[in-house]
Amino acid sequence: MPDPIETEVPSRPSILVTGATGTLGQEVVHRLVRRGVPVRGLSRAQPERRPGVEWTVGDLTDPVDMSRALAGVDAVFLVWPLLDPAPAREVVKVLSGADRRVVYVSSTAIDDNAARQSDPIVQTHADMEAMLSQAGLRPVVLRSDTLAANARGWSAQLRDGDDVYGPDIARTAVVDERDVADAAEAVLLAPPDRLDRGPHLLTGPELITRAEQVHRLGAALGRPLRFHPSTANATKQRMLADGRPEPLVQALITASTHRPDSDLVTDHLERLTGHPAGTFAQWAADHAAEFTPPNTDRGTDQPKNAAASS
Ligand SMILES: NC(=O)c1ccc[n+]([C@@H]2O[C@H](COP(=O)([O-])OP(=O)(O)OC[C@H]3O[C@@H](n4cnc5c(N)ncnc54)[C@H](OP(=O)(O)O)[C@@H]3O)[C@@H](O)[C@H]2O)c1
Repeated sequence: MPDPIETEVPSRPSILVTGATGTLGQEVVHRLVRRGVPVRGLSRAQPERRPGVEWTVGDLTDPVDMSRALAGVDAVFLVWPLLDPAPAREVVKVLSGADRRVVYVSSTAIDDNAARQSDPIVQTHADMEAMLSQAGLRPVVLRSDTLAANARGWSAQLRDGDDVYGPDIARTAVVDERDVADAAEAVLLAPPDRLDRGPHLLTGPELITRAEQVHRLGAALGRPLRFHPSTANATKQRMLADGRPEPLVQALITASTHRPDSDLVTDHLERLTGHPAGTFAQWAADHAAEFTPPNTDRGTDQPKNAAASS
């Protein structure tokens, strides 16, 4: 087994976690708190208090908010869950104002040889990586594959029955967000002389299609779940009806139609964390309780929501 990065716990409050209320950020916060590292979490709304976390309310795109959030921190776990990289220019200037470790969460879907990326989400991550590097920040880049937790987007449909409708997004090595958070913990706390800035390509252990994910989730739930690929137009109408903003819907549709099948399965995660990447089947087993049984009094077989995660 590869030797994982030995980590050290800084002696003073020093890590800002952006996206701290999100899927990945919550897992990162949990790990840092467990290690005794005082953490500052950024959110646009004041979250509930929790031991070991100092919350700061602010917007990632606001340099004043970011300046306040970064005061006194030595490292930042940076996400950019937006479709436009342009507001990051000012934020990158703020980040450049001090010697800090910047760990940026990007995407394995980036094609380093392409002039333009397959869709706006991947393009934004590529632009962010370039912007951080050009500013001399020498970011540690964690390129994550599709998070297993995106399957939560099927919850609403699974309350209505055993059928999942959604875009047949390209096959990919779906990765457990807990593993990505373990990798983030490793690089956030690595001693400077052991720090590998990557890019680290963080994948799950096997390439799986949407239909296979649904099938494995069904096995964990003990239900005969079926996946039905929907057309781009049907998916778009459903997402818009769910109240998702049009630019996001368009980006997700483009991702579902333009992103090529992936052949990428790496051991980078194991190299950083010292443990192999978990399977989607294990994720499904661990999260089965989150998927409630179907309504018994349902009046329709049609889904109310479609998965909109990429
Ligand atoms: N999901 C995937 O499959 C996947 C794959 C590769 C890379 N990624 C990247 O990984 C990152 C994290 O993904 P995730 O799935 O954990 O995200 P998520 O669950 O959707 O959470 C998004 C987080 O970002 C925060 N946020 C959104 N807009 C913000 C703004 N303007 N200012 C401040 N905070 C803002 C939200 O906080 P508040 O709402 O509390 O403000 C929330 O904590 C994203 O950048 C995503 O692109 C995701």
